[in-house]
Amino acid sequence: MHDIIRQLDEKRAAARLGGGAKRISAQHAKGKLTARERLELLLDEGSFEEWDMFVEHRCADFGMQDNKVPGDGVVTGYGMINGRLVFVFSQDFTVFGGALSEAHAEKICKVMDQAMKVGAPVIGLNDSGGARIQEGVASLGGYADVFQRNVMASGVIPQISLIMGPCAGGAVYSPAMTDFIFMVKDSSYMFVTGPEVVKTVTHEEVTAEELGGATTHSSRSGVADLAFEDDVEALLMLRRFFNYLPLNNRDGVPVRPSGDAPERIDLSLDTLVPDNPNKPYDIKELILKVVDDGDFFELQPENAKNIVVGMARMAGRTVGIVANNPQVLAGCLDIKSSIKAARFVRFCDAFNIPVVTFVDVPGFMPGTAQEYGGIIKHGAKLLYAYAECTVPKVTVITRKAYGGAYDVMSSKHLRGDVNFAWPNAEIAVMGAKGAVEIIFREDKGDPAKLAAREAEYKARFANPFVAGARGFIDDVIQPHETRKRICRSLAMLQDKKLENPWRKHGNIPL
Ligand code: HXC
Repeated sequence: MHDIIRQLDEKRAAARLGGGAKRISAQHAKGKLTARERLELLLDEGSFEEWDMFVEHRCADFGMQDNKVPGDGVVTGYGMINGRLVFVFSQDFTVFGGALSEAHAEKICKVMDQAMKVGAPVIGLNDSGGARIQEGVASLGGYADVFQRNVMASGVIPQISLIMGPCAGGAVYSPAMTDFIFMVKDSSYMFVTGPEVVKTVTHEEVTAEELGGATTHSSRSGVADLAFEDDVEALLMLRRFFNYLPLNNRDGVPVRPSGDAPERIDLSLDTLVPDNPNKPYDIKELILKVVDDGDFFELQPENAKNIVVGMARMAGRTVGIVANNPQVLAGCLDIKSSIKAARFVRFCDAFNIPVVTFVDVPGFMPGTAQEYGGIIKHGAKLLYAYAECTVPKVTVITRKAYGGAYDVMSSKHLRGDVNFAWPNAEIAVMGAKGAVEIIFREDKGDPAKLAAREAEYKARFANPFVAGARGFIDDVIQPHETRKRICRSLAMLQDKKLENPWRKHGNIPL
């Protein structure tokens, strides 16, 4: 018996070595941790339960029958993050470059299936050369098996991808279907076709980093939600992010008691918005002053900066925050910001996370670039997302809410539950100047008359009381009591029940 136990220990030790000491050193030399080191950092100490450590590939071509490594290039199982269950897979670049074989894919599918059965999130740590070239179509089938599971799990359990090395070709589409993608700067990249193919086909010269590095995807393409300096930062921030998430779509949001009183007022908010309506102010200052403990986990901070999205807590419970940012493009909605916010609102709705929206929006962005790019369909995504959303929705208009953008930004008409406005809010079809230039075109040559008309329009419409008179705004509130009023509204809405009519699925304008 002792021998058998010793043999098991030896087998385990061999599996833990992955591709061997030399390849582990090479991994470290690139500034990367190994698959197992990453899991140690991600999960609570000693909580990892590994599965399928002894799985091997079944390929017999190209001498592969004599080249087997237990685990086959991916470490899988489950563990805890701050005491909450999570399923994980971590690709081991030291074994065949983390390339995905049929057996490797089966291991990933097994944890995904189990995660669905018990209702717990899946986190994938991706570091892979793609399809296992020696296996051919078996490997492609393996990818598709993972893709199918990604789609079935979407909206049921949170799925998060952390890209920590290569992720190229069709392999990108599994992370693409997960809820969030985090990347590591300088050591990870994602692209459908690499720099060599790009050069051949389009004659563009581009490095892997420029084409699909963390900075590119977190600031230009919007594919990644966040970019981190190194593996350690990425894994520790992922632990922090996980704390905001429900475990599944039937679980409530996690509660983290806070010493920050829900009734706390903040007098500095009374002077946040400048008197000049064309002057910007820092919307993130408002968010930090309103949420619990000034703790806001922003997503996509470098992409579509004209809208801010992220997770926070109010009275201890997770909320999703969406806010127009007057510092960038005056807070206009454009293609990128609409897509960014729409996907975020849909995530919140799928997982029962209330949405708090701060509105300061002068309208949709004009121009040929926007129209040719399809702002009509893309703007409609955000409208659709807010309109189909059934979670508690609390909205605060801090300044401008003009035109179609007023309707879109979680207005009363889109089933906003509680809609507040600050006293300086301007809720109208458009700004006073533009409005009088259209309706009083005959006064165009008379600046004095136009100015008088503008003043008249402003006095009549540039306030929250016209909307208030119709009940489109539930109350006009003092800026300093914003936190208190939102917390009370969310408490009132805690047991909200609202169902959309039965249908197979809606047809969001994709
Ligand atoms: C099998 C692979 C592999 C792969 C890498 N390796 N990729 N083995 N299948 N796809 C092996 C290498 O042979 C090497 O083995 C080890 O992993 C490390 O690779 P290196 O090349 O030494 O590492 P590095 O220089 O860091 O380069 C990493 C890389 C490169 C850029 C990922 O290996 C590479 O270009 N690989 C091929 C990528 C590729 O074309 N994949 C298929 C894409 S098509 P040894 O024994 O020497 O350590 C695809 C389709 C998916 O993925 C479709 C889904 C629908």
